[in-house]
Amino acid sequence: MARGLRKGLTSYGDDGFALFLRKAFIKAMGYSDDALDRPIVGITNTYSDYNPCHGNAPQLIEAVKRGVMLAGAMPMVFPTISIHESFAHPTSMFLRNLMAMDTEEMIRAQPMDAVVVIGGCDKTLPAQIMAAASVDLPTVVVPVGPMVVGHHRGEVLGACTDCRRLWSAHRAGEIDEVEIDTVNGRLAPSVGTCMVMGTASTMACITETLGLSLPMSASIPAPHAERVRLAEQSGKVAARLAVEGGPKPSALLTPAAFHNALVVMQAIGGSTNGIIHLTAIANRAGVRLELETLDAIGRDVPVLVDLKPSGAHYMEHFHHAGGVPKLLKQLGDLVDLDAPTVGGGTLREVVANAEEVPGQDVIRPRSHPIKAQGSMVVLRGNLAPGGAVLKQAAASDRLLQHTGRAVVFDSVADMAARIDDPDLDVTADDVLVLRNTGPKGAPGMPEAGYLPIPKKLGRQGVKDMVRISDARMSGTAFGTIVLHITPESAVGGPLALVESGDMIRLDVEGRRIDLLVAEDELARRRAILADVPERPLPERGYARLFQQTVLQADEGCDFDFMVPR
Ligand code: FES
Repeated sequence: MARGLRKGLTSYGDDGFALFLRKAFIKAMGYSDDALDRPIVGITNTYSDYNPCHGNAPQLIEAVKRGVMLAGAMPMVFPTISIHESFAHPTSMFLRNLMAMDTEEMIRAQPMDAVVVIGGCDKTLPAQIMAAASVDLPTVVVPVGPMVVGHHRGEVLGACTDCRRLWSAHRAGEIDEVEIDTVNGRLAPSVGTCMVMGTASTMACITETLGLSLPMSASIPAPHAERVRLAEQSGKVAARLAVEGGPKPSALLTPAAFHNALVVMQAIGGSTNGIIHLTAIANRAGVRLELETLDAIGRDVPVLVDLKPSGAHYMEHFHHAGGVPKLLKQLGDLVDLDAPTVGGGTLREVVANAEEVPGQDVIRPRSHPIKAQGSMVVLRGNLAPGGAVLKQAAASDRLLQHTGRAVVFDSVADMAARIDDPDLDVTADDVLVLRNTGPKGAPGMPEAGYLPIPKKLGRQGVKDMVRISDARMSGTAFGTIVLHITPESAVGGPLALVESGDMIRLDVEGRRIDLLVAEDELARRRAILADVPERPLPERGYARLFQQTVLQADEGCDFDFMVPR
């Protein structure tokens, strides 16, 4: 098989000429024949002025290159799409599959024997790993790492759990304009990803658990020198993979690895987004993840990591307590330690090298968990025949069994227009319902599931209400919030039938979410809806492709044609 620069020659009908031409052009960059004869390690560059989470990417790229060259191979950096949560319209999830396609095709198109993907902001690691699973070229993942914490008036702050908490306090009139402006400059005090257990941290922990990145790669803070050394070491590993030809992602992304990832997702109090991304990655790897498996694992796996939004600490504290290796050690027989890792060996060696940190209480033993059961539960019922998820660890215990009156919003725009209306008929016991916010409905399934508490209730001290939607929610958010209701309302899911004033019952113990309306009445509403003309498809381009082919949340929101048959 062709290696290095000889791989994937451009089609001119004359391979000798194609190589001659390729070398002629690349020599314009000053490369020698010696360099061009080496195995090649591609390195993705997702640095972007629009992506502050990846602000340290240039330094990590240099370190990876150093590691590759120290090991005798040839690094080649290439750009791909970069996505930041706050700079993606209409929502970053709309672009995840585009980034996965871009990354996949650039790895396929360009000559490389292994690849290092550097990412971190929420959708980037999922997109890169989806691509890696599809290409199945030896891959090392280097997360950019979490930010360090901020401080304000003696309080530790973190993006973006505290962004939401303090903004809610501002909305409720507890924090004035001057102070909220000061806080704005302190919530994200360094480059790197959000330092709570949001989606970025969840996916970094999952990546490490899947064996795709080196030990401690999820937790070393982005600005720390240790992360740069990890990048250098990752470069060395990638160079070895380039020579040896593996392990490939297909050797790592096994059913046992995905089981471990689900266990860790529950034990860290992970983001609900993680289940969508992990499902998409598993599908690419030919492994089917069922929502019920996540729920069943959650019944056995306690929450052991004490991080916001479910707990008290931040990613740097998780790191100093021993990170993922220590967590895997605490989980013991709940994880399959025979799962292989990209660095060589198995998780058993990773666990054997886990650091013992006297007195740390961020990563608890199973005998002293944060919560006895896992963070996420899966709900079914007549409102969610295809499933829905709720982050139990971030919910209010008193609302886990709750029946309330529906207050329905038809879209994000409708919610934004009416939620703070002083005349809105709403009480703290009601259930806020948001629809048309699923994969096709919004489109892109925005993180709109964290419906704000109506201002007039916030001012009365109401901090949480039951909220349900077909949207996603930021992993950094908290509340009694039912998400990913499937099928979504835009494709005729039962959420479309709810009317304000209906009663809705949330029964977390029984794993159900139900609309308490008689079946004949629901049939009448269904008949009315059937006569409503379908929304027209976008006329052209990526939006049209997205609308036509995106799968529902329980299938990972990938494009239907990207999943292997
Ligand atoms: Fe990038 Fe939170 S905005 S990880």
